[in-house]
Amino acid sequence: MYDLTVIIPTFKEESNIGTIIKAVDAVFLQNRINGEILIVDDNSPDRTIELVREMQKTLPYLSLAVRIEDPGLSQSVVEGFRRAQSDIFLVIDADLSHPPEHIPLMLAEIRAGNDIVIGSRYMEGGGIKKWPLKRRIISLGATFLGRLLFPEIHDPVSGFFAVKRGVVDHAPLRPRGYKILLEVLGKGTWHTVKEIPFEFVDRAIGSSKLGWRTIIEYAAQVLDNARFSWNHHGSVVWQEWVKLFRFGIVGLTGIIVNEGLLIYLRSYAQFALPVASIISIELSILSNFILNDSWTFKTGQHALPHWWQRLLSFQVVSLGGAAINFVILNALALYVGVDYRVANILGIVVAFAWNFLVNRRVTWKK
Ligand code: GDD
Repeated sequence: MYDLTVIIPTFKEESNIGTIIKAVDAVFLQNRINGEILIVDDNSPDRTIELVREMQKTLPYLSLAVRIEDPGLSQSVVEGFRRAQSDIFLVIDADLSHPPEHIPLMLAEIRAGNDIVIGSRYMEGGGIKKWPLKRRIISLGATFLGRLLFPEIHDPVSGFFAVKRGVVDHAPLRPRGYKILLEVLGKGTWHTVKEIPFEFVDRAIGSSKLGWRTIIEYAAQVLDNARFSWNHHGSVVWQEWVKLFRFGIVGLTGIIVNEGLLIYLRSYAQFALPVASIISIELSILSNFILNDSWTFKTGQHALPHWWQRLLSFQVVSLGGAAINFVILNALALYVGVDYRVANILGIVVAFAWNFLVNRRVTWKK
C-alpha cells in the first residue's frame, strides 16, 4: 500500500512519458513520499507503452494499465481511481502542463483535512502560458458553465487535482470527455475543497486531443451534474442563477433604452447619428448600472463602497465587453468566413459572459 497514487492518463505521449515519470519520481525522492505512479494508457499506437514497460524494470512503484475499450481521458482517470493502491489520488497530465513540484503541497493539503485539492489556473497567482486565443475562449466558456454549478470554485475544470479515495469510491461517476473534475465535484462525497494556484504551461511536444466532440460532451456533462451540484450547494447555486438571470433581464432593458433613445434622438430631436449613438449607448450603460446596483447585486457589503467607484468599474468593464463583441464579430466574419449575424450573436454571448463574470468579481465584489 502506498501513501499516494499519481494517476497519469496518456494517449500517444512517447515524447513526454519518460520526462514526466522521472519528474514525479524525483519529487517522490526529494520529499520522501511513498508514492505510486500509475499510467493509464488507451492502447497508444506509438511507443508510450513500450517506454513505460522499460522504466518499470527500475521503478517498482510504476504501474501501467492499458485500456482497450471505450477510450477517453475521463474514463482513464476513473480506471486509475479503481486500480490505485493508496487512499489519495492525484491526477496530472503527461505533457508537463502541470508542475509536478506542486505534488507535495497538494498532498499536504489533503492530509490537512481537505477532501479535494485543485490546482487552479483562474485564481490569484495562477495563470496560463502559451495558449492560443481559441483555446482560451473555449476554456473561459467551460469555466463559466462550471462555475454556474460551483460558484465558489475558481477552476472547476482543471485537469490537475488530488482527491481522497472516499470522495469517489461510491460516486455514480459517468466519465466522458475531458472534465473529470466536474464529475467528481458533482457526484463525489466531499465537504472541503482547497484550491492552490499554478501556472498551466501548454505542452511543448505533441498536440492537444481536445476537439468539438469534447465540447459537446462537456455541455451534456454540465446538464447531468446540475442536479447533483444542486444537492451539494443548492442555495449558493440558486443565488448565482438569480444574479445571472437578473443581469440578463437588465441587459435586455438596456437594449430597449439604447434603441428607444437612438430612435428618439435621431428622428425627433434631429441629432447627428454619431452623437445620438454615443448618448444612447452611454445612457443605456447608466440605466443598466442603476438597475444592477439596486437590484441584481443589491445584497451585502461591497468591496467598492462608493457608488461612483462601482459606476467607474462598470463603465470600464462594459467598454471591454463592447470591444470583445467587436473583435469576435469582425474576426469571425472577416477572417473565418462565419455569417456576420451568427458571428455577432457569438460575440454578444462571450461579451455577456465577460460582463457578468468581471462585474460580479470586480464591480460588485463582496
Ligand atoms: N488515456 C487517455 N485517453 N489519455 C488521454 C486521452 C485519451 O483519450 N486524451 C488525452 N489524454 C491524456 C494526454 O496524453 C495528456 O496526458 C492528458 O490526457 C491531457 O491531454 P491534452 O489533450 O494535452 O489535454 P489539454 O491540454 O487539451 O487539456 C488539459 O487542460 C484542460 C483544462 O483546460 C487537461 O488537463 C484537461 O483535463 C483539462 O480539463
